[in-house]
Amino acid sequence: MIYIHIPISWDNPEMDRLDLFCSTLKTLQIKNKKVFIHCAKNYRVSIFMYHYKKNILKDKSAKLILPKGFKPNKTWRKIIHQDIYKKTNKLNLEWVYNSDDINWNELSNLYKIAPLGDKKPNDLNTVFTNSIFKCFVYLDEVLIGVGRALADGFDCSYICDVAIHPDYQSKGIGKAIVNELIKLSQGHNKIILYSNPGKEQFYSKLGFDTMNTAMAIFKNKEQALEYKLTRKVQYK
Ligand SMILES: CC(C)(COP(=O)(O)OP(=O)(O)OC[C@H]1O[C@@H](n2cnc3c(N)ncnc32)[C@H](O)[C@@H]1OP(=O)(O)O)[C@@H](O)C(=O)NCCC(=O)NCCS
Repeated sequence: MIYIHIPISWDNPEMDRLDLFCSTLKTLQIKNKKVFIHCAKNYRVSIFMYHYKKNILKDKSAKLILPKGFKPNKTWRKIIHQDIYKKTNKLNLEWVYNSDDINWNELSNLYKIAPLGDKKPNDLNTVFTNSIFKCFVYLDEVLIGVGRALADGFDCSYICDVAIHPDYQSKGIGKAIVNELIKLSQGHNKIILYSNPGKEQFYSKLGFDTMNTAMAIFKNKEQALEYKLTRKVQYK
């Protein structure tokens, strides 16, 4: 019996490790060898084997059974949904521009998991109904992206509440939604927004400049300070 050691980080598995795991298994399988797989943490081998069966052996009955209590982080989710990630550009997205048939509970859940805060279904109904522009993006009838803009029809359009389902982030969908809202806002003198701290570069890449004098009155001033949306400045 030979022993093959493939070191794999528990929290940040690299794709080349997955490829090495699969090619090793495939080679041994071709040679008709019996393979025993040992893993100190079961979820790693569960996910890798699931990927191997589903995407390499094309076994449609492949099932992923994860240990109880294990919540895959973003990197693990990418491996689990790798077939979807590989098809990024082929995703058959459906775009909806009105809120007539929106399931507000589904939308509320999307914000929770994106995450973009705890937004109540009824409040979402109010703010989306009152927003002139809105985009909802569906994949296989599941809501995976959203954004809206409040606009006055001439001077100013304010883009907000942009969020993408965590399994579909970094695939260009957020960019597509903001570009769509920019397009819908065409003709306005200005399109404004405020970014969550850390997301400034995302908007900067889409053409937004940083404003010098933006100000706000938040209902919950303390929270806005805590989330670093505002800062205290003493004007003389
Ligand atoms: C922020 C968010 C909307 C971005 O959407 P996305 O679909 O993941 O991003 P995209 O794939 O469209 O990224 C477009 C570009 O922005 C960049 N980008 C995305 N998120 C970024 C970030 N946090 N920081 C810096 N750049 C970022 C990407 O690298 C990509 O660059 P490229 O065009 O040069 O390749 C999404 O990650 C999300 O929903 N986050 C949680 C909720 C949230 O914070 N919403 C924003 C509120 S202000």
